[in-house]
Amino acid sequence: MRHILVVGIGTGNPEHMTVQAINALNRADVLFIPTKGAKKADLAEVRREIIARYVTRPESRTVAFALPVRKVEGRSYVEGVDEWHAAITGTYVRLFLEDLPEDGTGALLVWGDPMLYDSTLRILERVKATGKVDFGMTVIPGITSIQALCAAHQIPLNLVGKPVEITTGRRLAETFPHRSETAVVMLDGEQAFQRVDDPEAQIYWGAYLGTPEEVVIRGAVTEVSDQILATRAALREKNGWIMDIYLMQKGRDFDDM
Ligand SMILES: C[S@@+](CC[C@H](N)C(=O)[O-])C[C@H]1O[C@@H](n2cnc3c(N)ncnc32)[C@H](O)[C@@H]1O
Repeated sequence: MRHILVVGIGTGNPEHMTVQAINALNRADVLFIPTKGAKKADLAEVRREIIARYVTRPESRTVAFALPVRKVEGRSYVEGVDEWHAAITGTYVRLFLEDLPEDGTGALLVWGDPMLYDSTLRILERVKATGKVDFGMTVIPGITSIQALCAAHQIPLNLVGKPVEITTGRRLAETFPHRSETAVVMLDGEQAFQRVDDPEAQIYWGAYLGTPEEVVIRGAVTEVSDQILATRAALREKNGWIMDIYLMQKGRDFDDM
């Protein structure tokens, strides 16, 4: 039976790779690399660099594939995502049948960790559900952008004994700062932090974490918001794409004891 290794590769620094991830890549016959269009070619490049640096097995081969693009026009968010996942499911079915021998092992190199705002695992369940191709699976954890952000700022994720919320820009206003004291915001296309007007709220922002382009800004959100917006816009213009994440926090260690 075919076997798929779902390998977390970290968030941009090839040295995020764990020994377990390196060993997994060296068990694979085929290494699948998604391409995301020209602008995000750098992301495919990180995967290539990881393979060049760590894969020592001469008989393995790399297969690049075009990841379908999510369509947004005329669809709700949920419809768009579901349709997109269906398209990726079709791509995986084809790749596994055409590029992986029946007893072969393939590796999917997943950005960060596969459990965090990544749909590879749920899409692989859809692939199985089609009944068109059967396979076993192993998941190897990776360093997430949340870990990279906290390391870059040299901060713990949580306040002592308090919970943490992980959310998106679209939904930040539902909970922060009135319901949650620490919110990590990912996938924020609208820079939702600019609408937080609580002077006590702190932001720890980071872009291109783990890469040579890494940049971080921190401070009271009402004071640094404009600086982050300007920095973000300039970097996006320069590089053609941006990936950023931030942690919003209100409150202090031990302030409830
Ligand atoms: C589709 S999610 C993937 C998350 C990934 N699985 C992880 O473990 O971090 C993409 C989001 O992760 C965050 N992200 C991933 N890599 C990043 C990096 N190197 N620097 C800043 N943010 C990053 C951004 O918020 C981006 O919009």
